[in-house]
Amino acid sequence: MPFERWFKRDKLRASELSPIDIPKVRKYSFVMTQEIRKKIEALFPCEKDIPREIDFAPSCGTYEGGMTYLIDGELRAWSGRTSEVLSPVCINTDRGLVRRKIGMEARLTTGEAISALDAAERAWDHGRGVWPVMRVQERAERLSAFAAMMRSVRDQSVRLLMWETGKSLSDSEKEFDRTVQYITDTVEALKETDRAGARFSSNSGVLAQIRRSPLGVVLSMGPFNYPLNETFTTLIPALAMGNTAVVKLPRYGSLCQIPLLHAFKECFPGGVVNIINGDGRDVAGPIMESGKVAALAFIGSSRAANILKKQHPMPNRLRCILGLDAKNPGIILPDADIDLAVKECVTGALSFNGQRCTALKILFVHRSIADAFVKRLSDSVDALPFGLPWEKGVRITPLPEPGAPDKMRSLVDDAVKKGASICNSNGGMSNESFYFPAVVYPVTSDMQLYTVEQFGPVMPVAVFDNEHEVFDYIVSSNFGQQASIFSRDPKRVGPLIDVLANQVCRINLNAQCQRGPDVYPFTGRKDSAEGTLSVSDALRCFSIRSMVAAPESDAGKELLREILHERSSSFVNTDYLF
Ligand code: G3H
Repeated sequence: MPFERWFKRDKLRASELSPIDIPKVRKYSFVMTQEIRKKIEALFPCEKDIPREIDFAPSCGTYEGGMTYLIDGELRAWSGRTSEVLSPVCINTDRGLVRRKIGMEARLTTGEAISALDAAERAWDHGRGVWPVMRVQERAERLSAFAAMMRSVRDQSVRLLMWETGKSLSDSEKEFDRTVQYITDTVEALKETDRAGARFSSNSGVLAQIRRSPLGVVLSMGPFNYPLNETFTTLIPALAMGNTAVVKLPRYGSLCQIPLLHAFKECFPGGVVNIINGDGRDVAGPIMESGKVAALAFIGSSRAANILKKQHPMPNRLRCILGLDAKNPGIILPDADIDLAVKECVTGALSFNGQRCTALKILFVHRSIADAFVKRLSDSVDALPFGLPWEKGVRITPLPEPGAPDKMRSLVDDAVKKGASICNSNGGMSNESFYFPAVVYPVTSDMQLYTVEQFGPVMPVAVFDNEHEVFDYIVSSNFGQQASIFSRDPKRVGPLIDVLANQVCRINLNAQCQRGPDVYPFTGRKDSAEGTLSVSDALRCFSIRSMVAAPESDAGKELLREILHERSSSFVNTDYLF
């Protein structure tokens, strides 16, 4: 339906739509109701309408914790350069819409970064520090105590997480709870690892106890989309294995970690965990350039990971555990259950507004069902509840990165210029930090959306005739994290699994791509990851096998027996054996 007639039908004039962007709807144009338009225009509240019970600091206006950092077991107060922490939630003021100020955050300098590194190095003390030689049982107790203390600041941390990232309140709660659960599961896995290492092996006259030992100082950097969870899924296993760490907080999502600093201080010996904030080039760069980092745990872009890795002067001494970019495809075969595929694709592509490394970032639909699929997909996307993060049932919320709506617009414009359409009526409507998800179809190889990771609320849909075309796409992609196949036909699914298994690291059948449950391996090929994370795999990533070997003679056995009896070694022990 031509654009003009479409507006007439809905009794809207283009002039009425300002400041909302008007999507260029060509092929499919469903009813864009005045209610939706008005709701997006009026999305952001006045200050007085913010519900006090979900505010980040009900009593004092803004959150004051952002000046605090942790080095060498001391909570220090920063008085140098700062920056404002602004929420993706805007406030309606006399000056128009302005991002609500949450508080200030410290922008530490290279000096503080190096102090944090020195503290971590002292705590490591070439492997002789209190923490690296502590008995596993005691380390496990400290981690459990930390999880308990963490629970006590849940409300504050969750509210800050919601305000900083725009993540819905329920998803922010889930992220917090999942993180606590991850710590609990890590403690259990640590005990299991220790139990496995307690047994002595005997081979060819050599008696050995083989255990996993820590690596040294870890630099841990999490992303804005899961600032708590993704930071902790590397930091906690690194600590569990006896490493010491410097944590550089993410650009968005740093304040939600500040309420936890006290628990870190109380539960770990000084210098074991050091938490700093600042610009990457001032803080992370000099730490890497020192050559003192034994392991880099980084979740973010492959571009930033490459820079950080290259800064290390002795790359052979550096282990990298990386979670990077992805462009996970959903493959919808002709016999797919369309309703199920639509439901999973919508959740898979648009949970947290598509800002997940595991999100489905392109859909390949068989030509025979493409039109039907796109129509149902568009209707489902248009029906998604959107609004402010604390609203009940909300699925689409404002985006934290200031440039994100422009990035979405530019990718969509490029596709539309080259012949695709926005197929859902509300697609691309935006207001400041808010962008309604756009279903863009048909996406072809000349469009940016075909290969660029959008990391936001845009769903590109491409058409295929033969599975080989999709396979070729995956082979030529820079990424290799996951894929989803939607079909009920074992004869088509089986062979596809076989080729995909050598290109990606998880193939989801009739389900969205995702990381969880956290006990399963999470990794990727090519530019998507380095190392494997899961509760138990992460413990392996942050450790190396060391062994004590002795001749299987009476003297050898006797010495080991005495060490055990006198409990003179943390390494040689059988604490968790029984
Ligand atoms: O952003 C990447 C996250 O690890 C994704 O985790 O699949 O559980 O949302 P998720």
